[in-house]
Amino acid sequence: MRVRKARLQDATNIFELVNSLSGDGTLLKRQFSEICENVRDFTIAESESGVFLGCGALHLYGPHLAEVRSIVMTPGAKGKGAGGRVLKALIDEAEEHGIQSVCLFTRIPDFFFRFGFRAVEDKAELPDKIFKDCQICPRLHRCDEVAMVRGRIPRVSILGPKHEAEQLVRLG
Ligand SMILES: CC(C)(COP(=O)(O)OP(=O)(O)OC[C@H]1O[C@@H](n2cnc3c(N)ncnc32)[C@H](O)[C@@H]1OP(=O)(O)O)[C@@H](O)C(=O)NCCC(=O)NCCS
Repeated sequence: MRVRKARLQDATNIFELVNSLSGDGTLLKRQFSEICENVRDFTIAESESGVFLGCGALHLYGPHLAEVRSIVMTPGAKGKGAGGRVLKALIDEAEEHGIQSVCLFTRIPDFFFRFGFRAVEDKAELPDKIFKDCQICPRLHRCDEVAMVRGRIPRVSILGPKHEAEQLVRLG
């Protein structure tokens, strides 16, 4: 098995696997166009013969925060170490960018505890994530996911109405 950055040719496999688990809310639904646009966020695992085994993405909010998204292995690949290797590669990628905080929302915190993530009691401590995804989520007020962070909780945020207002002022 090997782990590498995704290429555009992987977009169809990523799209189909991620959306196969979006129906029950395990993963956020992704449009094909969104996968293509953000394909450089993705890392994939594949067999030595090139069979797609799974993927995960690192979304960069800014120097203060990144997020692990869309991490999923094919049913046949689960439990063989691929998910852990993809997650480790995403953590290493955040470190290469000098990012101290990596967050995620999940229903399986135990998997992420093993890799240094800890639960965040108040999701409001991750305002960028909330502004990006939660406000448009149908489960906004009945969220069953655990917010987690690896590293320190960021002291700043860059998304949201306050920041939009600041940008408008800057644009004059
Ligand atoms: C979560 C997922 C990506 C893990 O991938 P995987 O290849 O099965 O995991 P690995 O084989 O690399 O496991 C690494 C370690 O985590 C443990 N682990 C795996 N899945 C786990 C889970 N759901 N809960 C707790 N621990 C888990 C393994 O036992 C292993 O521990 P070990 O190192 O002590 O042996 C995979 O199970 C999956 O695709 N799940 C469905 C999608 C999903 O829920 N994604 C997370 C969305 S936030």
